[in-house]
Amino acid sequence: MDQLPFSQASENNKAPILEILQATFTTPGLILEIGSGTGQHAEHFARHLPHLTWQPSDRPGFQNVCLPRIEASGLTNIRAPLPLDVTQQPWPIDVADSAFSANTAHIMSWSMVEAMFAGVGRLLQSGGCFCLYGPFNENDDFTSASNARFDAYLKSQDPAMGIRDRAAIERLATQNGLTPSANHTMPANNRLLVFGK
Ligand SMILES: C[S@@+](CC[C@H](N)C(=O)[O-])C[C@H]1O[C@@H](n2cnc3c(N)ncnc32)[C@H](O)[C@@H]1O
Repeated sequence: MDQLPFSQASENNKAPILEILQATFTTPGLILEIGSGTGQHAEHFARHLPHLTWQPSDRPGFQNVCLPRIEASGLTNIRAPLPLDVTQQPWPIDVADSAFSANTAHIMSWSMVEAMFAGVGRLLQSGGCFCLYGPFNENDDFTSASNARFDAYLKSQDPAMGIRDRAAIERLATQNGLTPSANHTMPANNRLLVFGK
């Protein structure tokens, strides 16, 4: 088989993220993943969390990047990826029990991040939660020199990209009916933020 799309960062962070998801997504349900990329997370989490049904998605035209990996996995608890751009209404999914997204908030412009929280806020029912992984600033400051360098690199690619402040993300969540419930420290200066509906 041709080599599957691969991200070294996903390979490195999938085990520590799984540990948190195991403790967070404890009941059977459908999980919408936003911005699935290569599908390494979708495959790993679906394999190790068999009580869940995993729904990958990505922007139209990119959603099938993960498809070869999903098909090769043989897993029956991953659905075919959906074309989902968080800014495009309506979203191609009406119901999900919880949601997950990794390394998207700094890639999306702020208005896209707003659209993501508005969409997740609408999608989830009471009792659902949204897990958001990535680098975040604290008190409008970088938490490491490597995050500062990463932010400068992102802005050199597109000034609309950049590491978001955790407090701003939490305010956005609250405005959309999602209550900040956990802020996990992760390797390599990342965090996993959990919001409950
Ligand atoms: C850095 S990649 C992260 C991929 C994967 N989640 C991971 O952690 O390896 C950012 C992802 O966000 C997606 N993305 C960017 N803008 C988006 C939008 N407006 N709606 C949905 N996904 C978007 C990109 O297509 C890409 O898959």
